[in-house]
Amino acid sequence: MIKVAIIIGSTRPGRNGEAVARWVYDLAVKRDDAEFELVDLKDFDLPHLDEVMPAAMGRYSHPHTRAWAAKIASFDAYVFVTPEYNHSTSGALKNAIDFLYAEWNNKAAGFVSYGSNGGTRAVEHLRLVMGEPQVADVRAQVALSLFTDFENFSVLNPSAQQEDAATAMLDQVVAWGQALCPLRK
Ligand SMILES: Cc1cc2nc3c(=O)[nH]c(=O)nc-3n(C[C@H](O)[C@H](O)[C@H](O)COP(=O)(O)O)c2cc1C
Repeated sequence: MIKVAIIIGSTRPGRNGEAVARWVYDLAVKRDDAEFELVDLKDFDLPHLDEVMPAAMGRYSHPHTRAWAAKIASFDAYVFVTPEYNHSTSGALKNAIDFLYAEWNNKAAGFVSYGSNGGTRAVEHLRLVMGEPQVADVRAQVALSLFTDFENFSVLNPSAQQEDAATAMLDQVVAWGQALCPLRK
């Protein structure tokens, strides 16, 4: 069975991202076609990229890089839960992606975003980023509005159709994660 990480892409104190990721996780663990795990960037405490060699060389010199690499390598697919900051993803998530290369290769990814326009611009940027580490991004995505899927912009209360959107996204992530298995062998 493939393993899917649900990555919390905000490290901000008081972040909405944790509740969003837990909502995705609670939906995901009801499935029996994959294993799911929450991965919190905060737990890895990554500095701004401080490796001398490019990630594609795979020569990681710092314990924090090796710990992050081991965690990401252990999954077949990812759900990136991203806020929208200035029409893009968070610096913390982009930095965490930049740290690694081979660990991302030939894996699948889906996106759950949130923001005043559902965070869709952050996901468009992430889709561009995914090309270089060779991550296959699925079409279905979840875009949570700070106006209609949160109370007071801070308490997650997703509208009913968002659960259907999350299910469609997870269906594609699992299917593509499985389909890419031969490339990872
Ligand atoms: C630095 C910063 C920039 C932001 N820029 C945008 C933006 O461009 N578009 C948008 O819809 N929301 C924007 N927001 C609002 C965030 O999407 C919203 O606060 C969200 O809850 C942030 O995610 P987090 O709470 O998980 O950190 C911004 C918030 C911050 C902190």
